[in-house]
Amino acid sequence: MKKISVSAPGKLMLFGEHAVVYNRPCLVTAVSARIKVSIERTSGDFKIEAPQVKDVRFVEETVGFFQKKFKIGNGLAIKTESDFSCEYGFGSSSAVTVGILEGLRELFNLSLSKKDLFDLGYKVTLAIQGLGSGFDIAAAAFGGVLYFLTAGKVIEKLSVKSLPLVVGYSGVKADTSTLVKRVGLGFKAQRSRIEKIFNEIAQIVEEAKKELIEKNWLRVGYLMSKNQALLQKLGVSTKKLDKMCQAAEKAGAFGAKLSGAGGGDCMIALISNEKKRAVERAIERAGGKVIKVQTCAEGVRDESNG
Ligand code: MEV
Repeated sequence: MKKISVSAPGKLMLFGEHAVVYNRPCLVTAVSARIKVSIERTSGDFKIEAPQVKDVRFVEETVGFFQKKFKIGNGLAIKTESDFSCEYGFGSSSAVTVGILEGLRELFNLSLSKKDLFDLGYKVTLAIQGLGSGFDIAAAAFGGVLYFLTAGKVIEKLSVKSLPLVVGYSGVKADTSTLVKRVGLGFKAQRSRIEKIFNEIAQIVEEAKKELIEKNWLRVGYLMSKNQALLQKLGVSTKKLDKMCQAAEKAGAFGAKLSGAGGGDCMIALISNEKKRAVERAIERAGGKVIKVQTCAEGVRDESNG
């Protein structure tokens, strides 16, 4: 029987986390660490083999949505494999969701655009988490570097081909929902203060968008550190993340910030090639683990012949 193999990339938030949940834009890059999904039709019941998927509900819910919408049966076997640990916060759930949607689209020969995949994937995210901007689903579907507005109101692919980043894992797994809820409580309690922070972050995102396209790394780095200071004010950074960012800057990075919800996961530092090793060493000395990934990776793609 026909077997489909696809892969979808993980992501790293570049600018605008948290504010993007509140109708502001963000910038995200897809990364070379991918999740592979293979799907085939079977005569038996629905079977999943997804050892590295943190929350198997993403697999079940995605298939459920697809079955309801396109009236497909239960005889499916789905297997996933991951290049990366779900601990890093690279968006393994969103990559799995998009991978399965694309795999099912191919298997059943449906004509669905990347935006259709995004819309379906975002519904899955909301059904399971009840919150989130959907930027990670967009990164997995479209790939590259995206300028993204909450819920996919704008998804714009930027002409950025490479990004000189070093990625450091803090060793602590963050829980995105808890952090988003915590920021939500702050928003309720001190609305005007938090709105002001979100507006400043949105301004940074707009400027960073232009500077990224122009490869003005010095300025992009400066904006990263400025974004980090605002994330500290939001209360989502940690001592460890701050220490790693400071160490990277001291070792010559153009700038550094946490990437994602905060509370752990990864930080990113923008570097020149000459400073790469020094920044990597500084991050390691600060207790981080350097994760080797390429940025600007391709979105979900067919792997059936590879
Ligand atoms: C988490 O990686 C990024 C947040 O902005 C949440 C979201 O956009 O869904 C905190």
